[in-house]
Amino acid sequence: MSGLFITFEGPEGSGKSTHSNELAERLRSMGYEVLKAREPGGTPTGEAIREILQHDSVGEPIVRETEILLFAASRAQLVQRVIKPALARGCVVICDRFADSTTAYQGYGRDFDVERVLNLNEWATDGLAPDATLLMDLDVGIGFERIHQRNLALDQGEDRFEREARAFHERVRQGYLVLAERWPERFHVIQSEASVDAVSTEVWRVVEPLLSAVGGGRPADED
Ligand code: TYD
Repeated sequence: MSGLFITFEGPEGSGKSTHSNELAERLRSMGYEVLKAREPGGTPTGEAIREILQHDSVGEPIVRETEILLFAASRAQLVQRVIKPALARGCVVICDRFADSTTAYQGYGRDFDVERVLNLNEWATDGLAPDATLLMDLDVGIGFERIHQRNLALDQGEDRFEREARAFHERVRQGYLVLAERWPERFHVIQSEASVDAVSTEVWRVVEPLLSAVGGGRPADED
């Protein structure tokens, strides 16, 4: 496969969306063909699953087995229909959350057997793993404060995951850090308490050296 696959991961409010969007724009402005996706979602089927998972659109409690299978289903659809074809075209694919979210949230967060989750991920992704994963690490309390401010500004309520107990989100954060230790070559831990500019600089420090693997752009200093 000739493209480059980058994922952003992290707990709530850690700035994944801000930085994944910014990176996508920066690469586009340099001439790279970029495909940006988010999880759950990114396909019509995936977006329908997102409504169920995040906004309780069916009005029934979702058991944890169903939850994990729905995330996996959304991901399988995204991988086969969007990500693999884009990588085959040589795109830079940037995904806001991917399989590590399932390991962190459903495995560590919901206390589901982590090795089983990893097996399920492997199956759902057909073995596709990111070339690099940027883990935006942040104190859970600070993340919650950011989410609270964002929800106030947008006049929206908390989603199903934001309503989970603080202890759940602490397990998610620690779970991510365990994954980063387990796959140190793929994971890059970025302290996202810093300013947006400082975090952007860190993101770029990780991504720039990877770009030699894909064609299509021009050097950053011509930007
Ligand atoms: P989103 O609004 O995209 O979260 P964030 O703003 O933090 O990026 O919502 C995705 C939610 O779904 C988030 O709370 C994490 C959760 N999630 C899982 O529990 N498992 C998964 O596999 C994925 C992809 C997301």
